[in-house]
Amino acid sequence: MSQRHANKSGFETRAIHAGYEPDPMTGAVIPPIYATSTYKQDGVGGLRGGYEYSRSANPTRTALEGNIAALEEGERGFAFASGLAAEDTLIRATCRPGDHAVIPDDAYGGTHRLFDKVEKVWGLAHSPAPVSDVEAVRAAIRPGETRLVWIETPTNPLLNIGDIEALAGVAHEAGALLVVDNTFASPYLQQPLTLGADVVVHSTTKYCGGHSDVVGGALVVRDLELAEQLTFHQNAIGGVAGPFDSWLVLRGLKTLGVRMDRHCDNAERVVAFLAEHPAVTEVIYPGLPEHPGHDVAAKQMKRFGGMVSFRVAGGEERALAVCEKSEVFTLGESLGGVESLIEHPGRMTHASVAGTDLEVPGDLIRLSVGIETADDLIADLDRALGG
Ligand SMILES: Cc1ncc(COP(=O)(O)O)c(C=O)c1O
Repeated sequence: MSQRHANKSGFETRAIHAGYEPDPMTGAVIPPIYATSTYKQDGVGGLRGGYEYSRSANPTRTALEGNIAALEEGERGFAFASGLAAEDTLIRATCRPGDHAVIPDDAYGGTHRLFDKVEKVWGLAHSPAPVSDVEAVRAAIRPGETRLVWIETPTNPLLNIGDIEALAGVAHEAGALLVVDNTFASPYLQQPLTLGADVVVHSTTKYCGGHSDVVGGALVVRDLELAEQLTFHQNAIGGVAGPFDSWLVLRGLKTLGVRMDRHCDNAERVVAFLAEHPAVTEVIYPGLPEHPGHDVAAKQMKRFGGMVSFRVAGGEERALAVCEKSEVFTLGESLGGVESLIEHPGRMTHASVAGTDLEVPGDLIRLSVGIETADDLIADLDRALGG
């Protein structure tokens, strides 16, 4: 499907068709896995379709990049070996020593580690700010130095909500780019570029891939000059998605819409159960009217997603016990796959921020609600919480 038509179609149509025309030679409706590092040239410099070497471009990756760009309603997509590889490439393409970035004060631990332990050494300063507080983000900006305002919404794991449109205004006033890590919402629930963001980041490992069988990352942009910088850096740094991984993510994206609706249905059931449970002291889910970011989430998201966090009576010890007792909810890091996962952020995904301003509460449990039968999920949580 041509990109022009792809951009006019509905989300599910784009998810299934954008980025790839059936192969002219065989009619294959699914892009082949082009397991090749190099391409025969028709005379020196006579490239077929622009393919020269698979770090620079590979047709399976091209199909994924076109697809995810269409889903995010951007102009260009870029696929990487992991979400963090995408983030590092973006930072090095847009920032120079002496620059500054504002990052969420409850950022994904790996993103915080990248800024704090890797990029800082190269001269990029950063300040944490709560994404839910537009004025706090504005105050964290250093005029003339801040190059990136980086947000997640919902955040990981506290599910705070940032107002993308308002934050885009704040970033642009300061001459900075607004970067939105859209991993938790997925392009089905939220398209930040349409709300004024400049760059969308994904860990495609999560909902985009959707089956916990691949690690990958992506960037999507609207601005063609920025796209050129990213094209250069993607090739120059080389953290690209391989053809097998690209194929898996592309396959996952085809069913993103139906999976996300079921993730949301099941999450709503789980939230309703947890809200009534005596051992649960707080349920954190942007779909709840009492969630402080509910109105903004309702404005910018189609639904509220499959991630649910909650706190338990009895502190960290109880939280760890619940994580260990559940059976259908598998104890494990990551999220966004068809299977439900449970984890203790303080000791697992966010262990790297222990002792910093970004530390998360010890009694917090994070669920990635999968697409199993909802009754089984609830029965499992009931058992793990002690009946
Ligand atoms: C919100 C968010 N962004 C980025 C990443 C990093 O992605 P990856 O693990 O694919 O490198 C993760 C990983 O958990 C994440 O949850």
